[in-house]
Amino acid sequence: MGSVMGEGEGEPRTAGRRRICLLGATGTIGRATLRALVRRGHEVVCFVRPGTVGDLAGAEARRVDVTDPVSLTRDGFRGERFDAVVSCMASRTGAPKDAWAIDHQAHLDVLSAAREAGAPHVVLLSAICVQKPRLAFQHAKLAFERALIGSGLTYSIVRPTAFFKSLSGQIDRVRRGRPFLVFGDGTLTACKPIGDDDLADYLADCLDDSSRWNRVLPIGGPGPAITPRRQGEALFELTGRPPRFQQTPLAVFDVIIGGLGLAGRIVPSLAAKAELAKIGRYYATESMLVLDPETGRYDADATPSTGTQTLFDFYAAVVAGAALPDRGDHAVFRD
Ligand SMILES: NC(=O)c1ccc[n+]([C@@H]2O[C@H](COP(=O)([O-])OP(=O)(O)OC[C@H]3O[C@@H](n4cnc5c(N)ncnc54)[C@H](OP(=O)(O)O)[C@@H]3O)[C@@H](O)[C@H]2O)c1
Repeated sequence: MGSVMGEGEGEPRTAGRRRICLLGATGTIGRATLRALVRRGHEVVCFVRPGTVGDLAGAEARRVDVTDPVSLTRDGFRGERFDAVVSCMASRTGAPKDAWAIDHQAHLDVLSAAREAGAPHVVLLSAICVQKPRLAFQHAKLAFERALIGSGLTYSIVRPTAFFKSLSGQIDRVRRGRPFLVFGDGTLTACKPIGDDDLADYLADCLDDSSRWNRVLPIGGPGPAITPRRQGEALFELTGRPPRFQQTPLAVFDVIIGGLGLAGRIVPSLAAKAELAKIGRYYATESMLVLDPETGRYDADATPSTGTQTLFDFYAAVVAGAALPDRGDHAVFRD
């Protein structure tokens, strides 16, 4: 990936209605980002999978196979001009093959097509955990981050902490009077959870705010860092149930990872399951906060905050009857 500017590229504009290509508009953060972009008056063209049914409110939906560079150009960009690409697209499983195909290769192809379309700015939803890469999907994301940084286009790489949906896997358990499961004593890790709409606003504002250009931007939600134990306590308070925690040994993951890893040498689908168990172990032991490279410690104070939505307000809304979000394939605890 060279750093020579393509024809039509230049400085992004900081104001006015712009023409945006949005990827991943059917996902959790993508849906919120679409709303945020439309609220700001932008013209949004979403590239969605060929099989996707229905339309996206306030935006044009184009059926595109993002794994096929020909489809990206022919069905997606269509030789038209765009002011920016915003990507909330990510592999749904985090399994190695899918991660390298979507988080890396499809994004590289989007980058090439975006340059041809003269789009001067790419806003990328990444993840804070790539600062300590141990998993295939983190390496895939980092490899694309590097390509984007070296592309010569203006970039805003947003690395959020944990989403609310990823911290809501035990609401039903607690509601049903079952104990809240924790690893260790429930204080091994912490995060500054960020709400979908707050993150979407942050992503959309990257278009206007030149202080967010050509930067890697770790970002969390408001308030102090929260441990799993604190999440459990909040749920017991909200449901009016007496606190009951059940400690799960981390060795559970090692047994699963070891067993599936061995079996995966014979049955490839089991190797993918071993990777999912590794993802579970990673989140059980690593905080979603900025990592201090000097000390190797996670630093809540160094993790920037945005927005107003809190995890506990979200819990309160769900306990009061709001719909639980689809947590996807990354949930560690299922009911
Ligand atoms: N969960 C967390 O706590 C957390 C924290 C920090 C960062 N992140 C990062 O945030 C990102 C997005 O998260 P999310 O929860 O919004 O994702 P999501 O709900 O899983 O949505 C993923 C989006 O990517 C699209 N996509 C996936 N595979 C595709 C393919 N083969 N072809 C076309 N489109 C495809 C999906 O389209 P379809 O609807 O068609 O599948 C969907 O629009 C990920 O990079 C994740 O690592 C997550």
